[in-house]
Amino acid sequence: MFRVNYTSRLLTHVLAPLLTFDCHSDRYLYKTAKSLPWEQLLSLDTTFAIEANVSGSRIKHSQFAAQRLKDAIVDHFRDISGERPNVDPRNPDLWLNLYIHNNKATISIDTSGGSLHRRGYRVASVTAPMQETVAAAIIRFSEWKGVRPLYDPMCGSGTLLAEAYMYVSRVPAGYLREKFGFERLPDFDEEIWKEVKRECDHRIKPLPQGLIRGSDLSGIAVEAANENLMRLPGGEQVKVSKRAFQDIDSLKNTVIICNPPYGLRSKNAGEARELLDEFVVFLKERCSGAVVYLYLGKKELLKDIFLQATWKKPINSGGLHGYLVKYEIR
Ligand SMILES: C[S@@+](CC[C@H](N)C(=O)[O-])C[C@H]1O[C@@H](n2cnc3c(N)ncnc32)[C@H](O)[C@@H]1O
Repeated sequence: MFRVNYTSRLLTHVLAPLLTFDCHSDRYLYKTAKSLPWEQLLSLDTTFAIEANVSGSRIKHSQFAAQRLKDAIVDHFRDISGERPNVDPRNPDLWLNLYIHNNKATISIDTSGGSLHRRGYRVASVTAPMQETVAAAIIRFSEWKGVRPLYDPMCGSGTLLAEAYMYVSRVPAGYLREKFGFERLPDFDEEIWKEVKRECDHRIKPLPQGLIRGSDLSGIAVEAANENLMRLPGGEQVKVSKRAFQDIDSLKNTVIICNPPYGLRSKNAGEARELLDEFVVFLKERCSGAVVYLYLGKKELLKDIFLQATWKKPINSGGLHGYLVKYEIR
């Protein structure tokens, strides 16, 4: 159970009301941002960086908007102290997000300290790895609760296996993250944070033997998957082997989750189609009683699959418009 609910008073009471405002020009952005109490978040010894995103507004360029916000912060400090804090675009103490949409600006403090899809376990990769958060979403959509064995027969770098493992063994998504953005906020309480982490670590539970397994045709992919899984506490309990799915005797009554190659480039499209046809034959002949979740990176691949789908869900991410499809094999 989580007992500690940490909320930054600074964020909720002092700054939050000020951080959304109408913004019809860069001058207004500069003026409003300059008047904010930045000294409550930053000091001359701390660094900051700004990520901006602009759409449907008079200010057209994200970089320019970020630059104006930076000028405002720097000039705010110059006015009150004669000195300025520095920008560090790589590893700042404070990440700020500026979002301007329909001439309304929102300045947010990134309390994560970088995108949360970067779990930190991916040290080795393959050609088309799945984004960690997409894999996590697929595991949730599958409603797998860790009762039936789960198998990914085309596991690549093991993203689906890693996310299934983290989910069922209760490894926190940010377990490997070395620092969070909120740790740099002035009212951060290290003792409370340590307690939250201790509680989460205690909740991690061992994986029943053989519950999560995977394989891949490529030895390089298997090495990558093993290397990645080893980064997670207890991740070595997930077993991965080198094998073509055509050589698997049977996966009866198993939950099968995978994303087959989808041949993004047209020269590979035919191969992807053929492989999928072969995979469907494999499912029908050797996987009776299995529930299958296929993530297909291209809508066209959904056509001509001679299996009755229980449901299909679109999943869009990083420019890919994929589909997750559920099949129940009789
Ligand atoms: C799109 S990738 C999977 C990516 C993976 N989900 C990840 O996050 O890294 C497809 C994988 O299918 C594997 N593959 C292709 N043909 C196969 C076959 N006949 N048997 C097993 N794996 C195969 C490829 O080696 C590749 O790693």
